[in-house]
Amino acid sequence: MADYDLVVRNGTVTTASDVFGADIGVIDGRIATIGAKLGSGRREINAEGRIVTPGGVDSHCHIEQRSSMGVMTADDFFTATRSAACGGTTTVIPFAAQYRGMSLRQVVKDYHACAESKAAIDYAFHLIISDPSEQVTGQELPALIKDGYTSFKIYTTYDALKLDDRQILEVLSVARSERALVMVHAENHDVISWLTDKMLAAGHASPRFHAMAHAPIAEREATSRAISLAELVDVPILIVHVSAREAMEQIRQAKARGLKVYGETCPQYLFLTANDLDRPGFEGAKFMCSPPPRDKANQDVIWQGLATGVFDVFSSDHAGYRYDDPEGKMKHGRNAPFKKVANGVPGLEVRTALLFSEGVGKGRIDLPQFVALTSTNAAKLYGLHPRKGTIAVGSDADLAIWDPEKEVTIQQSMIHDAMDYTPYEGKSIKGWPVMTLVRGEVVAEGGEFVGAAGRGRFLKCNISPATAPLGRRTIPFDPATGVAEPGRHGDHAH
Ligand code: URP
Ligand code: ZN
Ligand code: ZN
Repeated sequence: MADYDLVVRNGTVTTASDVFGADIGVIDGRIATIGAKLGSGRREINAEGRIVTPGGVDSHCHIEQRSSMGVMTADDFFTATRSAACGGTTTVIPFAAQYRGMSLRQVVKDYHACAESKAAIDYAFHLIISDPSEQVTGQELPALIKDGYTSFKIYTTYDALKLDDRQILEVLSVARSERALVMVHAENHDVISWLTDKMLAAGHASPRFHAMAHAPIAEREATSRAISLAELVDVPILIVHVSAREAMEQIRQAKARGLKVYGETCPQYLFLTANDLDRPGFEGAKFMCSPPPRDKANQDVIWQGLATGVFDVFSSDHAGYRYDDPEGKMKHGRNAPFKKVANGVPGLEVRTALLFSEGVGKGRIDLPQFVALTSTNAAKLYGLHPRKGTIAVGSDADLAIWDPEKEVTIQQSMIHDAMDYTPYEGKSIKGWPVMTLVRGEVVAEGGEFVGAAGRGRFLKCNISPATAPLGRRTIPFDPATGVAEPGRHGDHAH
């Protein structure tokens, strides 16, 4: 009789801290032993010459979600998770998105109904909060956090989603008392809409003006404001999809001041530029996302942020809208003004391989940093670690097995999502996840999906240690309890 259900033999095992040669023995979908010369497995995988990493955790992706302008993403939970699996990702954390007037509890039920029978890999949910009514902040949110939805995204822009500063403070305050993590889409709405109106009035409606309207200063201002509001409440926050030097500097400075401000960036800010939005005709729409890709100098800055720890998470922000499709980018026609084009780019499948090739392969980051950025840190921040995001005894056997020498030219025809384009078409990279396992089962192999819809399980997120407040009060008054410290009037209580 075999000792293990599965043994992955002779691989170079890589975690966020170590790189070492070992066998991995799996029993009942979990890692049972890591060691040399393990006993036999019912199934054996020879990983000689391969790098074995924890499966990717893509903690920012939009799946079966209607955009703020009412356009449905191309991918459902099956096509999205199939695509993620083929790119070495084993857990996704998409959003259950509340629009105004909706009950959060009902929103969560609706997203579960979409995911349950379709997801091929494991999944959790963040909540998007656009309507922080008393019912939501006082009852629904605390109850949902206890049920395993321990993170939520808020927006400072988009008419249908944006919160004002007072509402942001209220949400941050709930996060502080319940120990949830707030993700912030930080762009100044009035700057963007004012610039947009001026551009459209002057007849500048093509996709390239999207990048100009979403100015780096708008991103910087909202990032700085979000950090200030979180500092006032003394609650950790995570700034998502950072595109440019200006916003990144705010995060770097906040970290240097000891604040628990986490940062996320995405492939589009390393591999695309605003010039892509200026392609002939309407093609620039393929590259429109918010914040938009910037320029080469900003790409270099974002790489530095990844290498030096300003960014904790590298996610896809996969928000796929097909190009040549009346339900996608062309919903309002082939020449729609940029304001009416759905925002978002796909990236679930190529996220990790792009970073592996251009980051590890080109010496910008090392292998443990790669694992931390694509898997471990997200699992930690969102309360899934150590079940997810690492290779350790007791963890789920979620693994990506990499051929570091495999050369791939990215083409939409090899990608397993429901899109009709990839923004990375024609890009040549080196290194590819040739096999992906979820809880010890092979779900992708040799560029083919071999898993099944419905095999993915819902993951309840725990309270993450990353959400612990610092205990630094900036005024001698606690808004959560109403308690004021006697005899103190200053604004520097620490
Ligand atoms: O352009 C983007 N990023 N679309 C998806 C929605 C969001 O803001 O994350
Ligand atoms: Zn966003
Ligand atoms: Zn997003």
